[in-house]
Amino acid sequence: MAHTNWPVFEHDGCYFIDRFHDIDAVKERRIDRWDIRDDDVIIQTFPKSGTLWMLHAVSQMYDNLNWKLKPVDRVARPGVWFEKTDSVPGLYGSMVKAVKSTFHEMQSPRLMICHVPQQFFHTSWRKGNRKCKIIHVTRNPKDVCVSSFKFFQSLQFIEMHLTWEEWVKAFVEGQVPFGPWLDNVWGWNQFGLEDNVLHVTFEDMKRDLKSVLVKVADFLERPLSDDMLDHVVSQCSLDAMRASQTDVQTLAIRDEGTSRENMKFLRKGEVGDWKYHFTVAQNEYFDKKITAEANKLGLQLQYE
Ligand code: A3P
Repeated sequence: MAHTNWPVFEHDGCYFIDRFHDIDAVKERRIDRWDIRDDDVIIQTFPKSGTLWMLHAVSQMYDNLNWKLKPVDRVARPGVWFEKTDSVPGLYGSMVKAVKSTFHEMQSPRLMICHVPQQFFHTSWRKGNRKCKIIHVTRNPKDVCVSSFKFFQSLQFIEMHLTWEEWVKAFVEGQVPFGPWLDNVWGWNQFGLEDNVLHVTFEDMKRDLKSVLVKVADFLERPLSDDMLDHVVSQCSLDAMRASQTDVQTLAIRDEGTSRENMKFLRKGEVGDWKYHFTVAQNEYFDKKITAEANKLGLQLQYE
């Protein structure tokens, strides 16, 4: 049962937001209209796991290698390719329209974002055409839970009226966009380097961004000199990203009357922020329902 004050619907094991997604589009698998290319680079995440951070890092790498494409030409969102554009107001709608209008004309290699679980990913990829490169970024689900609560609370164009207590419950039950969290993450974990999927964690990025970016650069077959690497790392600090207005520029968001300043992708950027939000009871409930299930699958979660 969906929460009445959080209008989400479930299809094929994944939750979508009523306001954002058109059920027919989801059923028709409109994602398949995207012409998957061998040299596509796709960042797959559960929302609020560091998508923009990785996107910023990868695009810096490519900028330094003289890719001179405008962000809107370079960044698309196949994972949220289900939007019913006309019903999405303001900023997000215009972003989707901008992407749609250039999607097929985008020059290769394209850099894209995707949030969908693997069962919704491109059919040709699932049937074995795995040449494109996918960077799968995961983050511990307690911090994702806090980050997404803060994010949805701040958006004026999504009616999310849940309290923190209700949000924790909705998250644990999987009734959040692209949830359940564990299904989404675990589904992608089934694929590895042989499928051209690289797994990276937000926590490792916090601990040692440079080492993670070396792995990413190797994976993309774009090795960087030490100087370039240092440059990318310095550009990827929270402060540098704030200063460069990455929120706005990278996603090519246009403000059409919707409150853009409220839509913050950059917040605290910490590991363990959840400790300031979860009550003891919420933590126990979360561990019982998610951490224990993840552990059973062999997934190591880094909560600190
Ligand atoms: P918080 O809300 O916990 O601060 P996404 O891009 O997938 O929406 O993820 C957003 C989260 O990534 C936010 O987490 C944001 O602050 C964090 N983030 C983005 N860039 C970051 C950076 N350079 N360093 C640390 N965290 C970053």
